[in-house]
Amino acid sequence: MTEYAGRDGLREMQELTQRVWSPASRFHLGDLAWERSANAARSADWRTAVWRDGTVGPVVAWGWLEQPGHLLMAVDPARPELADQVIHWFRETADGDQLATGVLETEHHLLAPLEAAGFRRDDQSPYYTHHWISLDALATPVAPDGLTLRHVRADEVAKRAAVHRAAWSDLAPSKMNEGAMAAVMSAWPYRSELDWVVVNEAGEFVASALIWLDEQYQVGLVEPVGVATAYRRQGLGQAVNLAALHALRAAGGTRAVVCPRGDDGYPKARALYQSIGFKPGSRTLHLLLG
Ligand SMILES: CC(C)(COP(=O)(O)OP(=O)(O)OC[C@H]1O[C@@H](n2cnc3c(N)ncnc32)[C@H](O)[C@@H]1OP(=O)(O)O)[C@@H](O)C(=O)NCCC(=O)NCCS
Repeated sequence: MTEYAGRDGLREMQELTQRVWSPASRFHLGDLAWERSANAARSADWRTAVWRDGTVGPVVAWGWLEQPGHLLMAVDPARPELADQVIHWFRETADGDQLATGVLETEHHLLAPLEAAGFRRDDQSPYYTHHWISLDALATPVAPDGLTLRHVRADEVAKRAAVHRAAWSDLAPSKMNEGAMAAVMSAWPYRSELDWVVVNEAGEFVASALIWLDEQYQVGLVEPVGVATAYRRQGLGQAVNLAALHALRAAGGTRAVVCPRGDDGYPKARALYQSIGFKPGSRTLHLLLG
């Protein structure tokens, strides 16, 4: 087992996540690329442990304290006994009175050992529902007059960060900055032709949708989508999303997944995805110790 502080360990986590991915998995390799790059400002508090089979064998488990008391984890379903080691590491490493974790409801190889260790399902907390779309019958994206759709260029980091902030500051100012966006745009498997924006007449970006393609399974993760506050409810969320999905299909993707809130505390994101044709699948479960 190797422990990391900060952002190190991403590629090893992605190695396992990709190797054992199936529609029953919570994480796509794009989730890890996005979460660990876009939130780099918080990374000083992160703790990560990666378990490898021998010194040169495959990665078989990882655990990530993305908050001092909150565990994200992945374990090779062929090695379910390793879940106990990840849980043990979590209890040794975590801070805080209330320890929590989350899994996809289909991850039985994680759920059973977590419950055996005393974690109980908490149905009061927000949860996320995977939504799926096949790319064989996509609607055509339409941008309102005066606005254009295109993918970003590698040198547009500052504008790309600005549109993220303009869309993600409803509740509190977004911490996205040029450094974090540069980290996103240099993280594997980022591809600028799968990172779409709506541009206004002044040349500003006013909406964005980023897709991460896992070429091994031809599946794209949509993460994130955002529309600047002043431009909402004009169909831009749909248009930029559909444009990115068409680009995903052109790049060899056959289906896409997105993970909006499934509870009624934040319904507009899933309403957007369902309006495009995404259909709900499995949900996450939030678990508390004790
Ligand atoms: C969610 C978000 C991207 C929607 O963008 P948008 O451009 O306003 O969405 P659209 O105009 O394309 O709406 C398409 C459909 O989504 C649904 N929808 C969008 N906003 C909604 C809202 N506030 N309430 C209910 N349904 C909503 C509707 O079905 C809508 O169709 P309609 O306008 O014909 O009723 C935007 O509100 C946003 O950026 N929010 C903050 C970031 C965010 O939550 N991103 C998604 C997280 S996974």
